[in-house]
Amino acid sequence: MEAISVIGFAIAVVLFFLFKSLITPSKPKKNLLPEPWRIPIIGHMHHLIGTIPHRGLMELARKHGPLMHLQLGEVSTIVVSSPRWAKEILTTHDITFAYRPETLTGEIIVYHNTDIVFAPYGDYWRQLRKICTLELLNTKKVKSFQSLREEECWSLVNEIKASGSGKPIDLSKCISQLITRIISRATFGKGIKEERVFKEIVRETIRLTGGFDIADIFPSKKFLHHLTGQRAKLTKIHNKQDKVIDSIISDRIQSRSSSSQETLLDVLLRHKDEAEFGLTSDNVKAVIFDMFGAGTDTSSVVIEWAISELIRCPRVMEKLQAKLREAVKGKERIEEEDIQDLMYLKYVIKETFRLHPPLPLLVPRECREPCVINGYDIANKTKLLVNVFAINRDPEYWKDPESFIPERFENSPINIMGSEYEYLPFGGGRRMCPGASMGLANIELPLANLLYYFNWKLPNGGSHDELDMTELFGAVVQRKNKLVLVPTFQDIVDGSS
Ligand code: HEM
Repeated sequence: MEAISVIGFAIAVVLFFLFKSLITPSKPKKNLLPEPWRIPIIGHMHHLIGTIPHRGLMELARKHGPLMHLQLGEVSTIVVSSPRWAKEILTTHDITFAYRPETLTGEIIVYHNTDIVFAPYGDYWRQLRKICTLELLNTKKVKSFQSLREEECWSLVNEIKASGSGKPIDLSKCISQLITRIISRATFGKGIKEERVFKEIVRETIRLTGGFDIADIFPSKKFLHHLTGQRAKLTKIHNKQDKVIDSIISDRIQSRSSSSQETLLDVLLRHKDEAEFGLTSDNVKAVIFDMFGAGTDTSSVVIEWAISELIRCPRVMEKLQAKLREAVKGKERIEEEDIQDLMYLKYVIKETFRLHPPLPLLVPRECREPCVINGYDIANKTKLLVNVFAINRDPEYWKDPESFIPERFENSPINIMGSEYEYLPFGGGRRMCPGASMGLANIELPLANLLYYFNWKLPNGGSHDELDMTELFGAVVQRKNKLVLVPTFQDIVDGSS
C-alpha cells in the first residue's frame, strides 16, 4: 500500500511539472556566444588544464572565435581576443564593463576592495584615482622624480660593478629591488626597511592572483576557499603586509618635517578622517599596497623580458647598444635628457610590451547589466577577460607576430595604445592603467643604464638561443627562471673596453 502511494506521488510530481511547462509561456530564446564543449560543474575549465591561461585561451579563440563564452566553474565569462571586439567593448560598452568581479584577493589583500584596482566603479574609485594621478602619476610629477631615478640607477650600476666583471649575477633581483626603491621613494619619500619581505609579499600575492584558482571559479562556495587553504594563505600574507605598511606609515608620520616635499602618502593621510572625503586607515593602506602591487613588477618584468629578448637577438642588442653609446657620448652618468630622443630604445620597449604584456588578460572586469554585443545576449554579472596577449599577436594586424622586431614601430603612430586597439599593454577605457607614464619612465632609464655600462652574456658560455623563456603565470606574467647573466663592464668614459 505504501509503495503504491510513493509511485502515485512521483507520477503526480511529474504531471505537475509537465503541466506547468505547457502553460508557462516559453521565454524568448537567447542568442548565445559560441563556446567549446563543456562538462557539468567545472564547465570549460578542463580546456585550460595544463596550459598557461593566456596561451590556452588564445588557442581556444582560434577555434571558437575572437568573442567566445566560457563557463569557468560557476563564473560565466566572455573572452575577447581581437582588436575589433576589444575596441567595441572598451568604447561602446565601457561603462557597462567598468566594474571588477568580487574576489577573495580583493576581499583579503586589499582591505575589502578599497584600493583602486579592485574598487567597484563609482565615486570612491574616481576620487582615489584622481588623488593618485594628481600626486604621483601625472607626467609632471613623474618628471619631478627624474633625479631620484637617476640616483637609484647609478647606485645599481655601482653595485653591479662592485660585484666584479665576469661573475654571474641575479639580474631579476637587481631590477626588482631597483624598481621597488624608485616607487617607495616616490610614494612616501624613502626606502622600505623590510624591503625584501615586502617584495616577497607582493610577488607572492601576484603569483596567487592569476584568476584561475578555486576561489575565482567557485566564488560562492566559501567552504572550498577554506578547504583548499587559499583563504588561510592569503590571510597569512595579508597580516605580514599589513604590518609592513603600518610601519611605513608610522615611520613617515614621525620623520616628516614641514620642509620635506609632500608625498602621495602624506596627501592620503591628510584625507584620513576628513569630513569631505574621509578615508580610513585601511583605505590608505590599500592604496599604498596598490602602488607596489600594480607599479613594481609590471615594470621590472618588462626590463627582464627586454634583456632576455636582446640576449636572444644579438643583432638588436648590438644596434641598440651602439645607438645608446652614441647618444650618451661617453658621459659618466646618464641623464634622462640623453635618451629622450633615442627612438630605437623606445621601439625595443614597445616590442617587448607587445610580445610580453605584463598583464596579458588585463584585470578582469564584470558587467553590471545585461547587454547585447553583436547580437549576442550577455547576462548581468558576466566576467570579461580581454586577451591582450592574443590581440598583440593578431596576424591580421601584425606581420610575423611571433618575432621580436623593434623596427616594426618605425614610422608607426602607436604610443601606449593602438588606435585600432591592436596594442593594449596598459588596457583601455575607464579602467585603463593610470600609471603608464611612471611605468615607462621606470623602464627606460634602468634599461639604458644596464645596456650602456655593461655587455651581457649567458653563464658558462651558453649560446644566445639557449636562454629559457618559460613564463610563470600570475596576475603579472614573469620569467619562470631568474635571469642570471654575466656582465662585462664597458669603460665607456675613457674609451677603453
Ligand atoms: C609597465 C608598467 C605598467 C603596466 C604594463 C601596467 C598595466 C596595467 C593594466 C593592463 C591595468 C588594467 C587595465 C584595465 O583593466 O583595462 C592596470 C591597472 C592599474 N595600474 Fe598599471 N601598469 C603599469 C604600471 C603602473 C604603475 C607604475 C602604477 C602606479 C604606481 C600602476 C597603477 C595601476 C592602477 C592603480 C590600476 C588600476 C586602475 C583601475 O582599476 O582603475 N600601474 N595597469
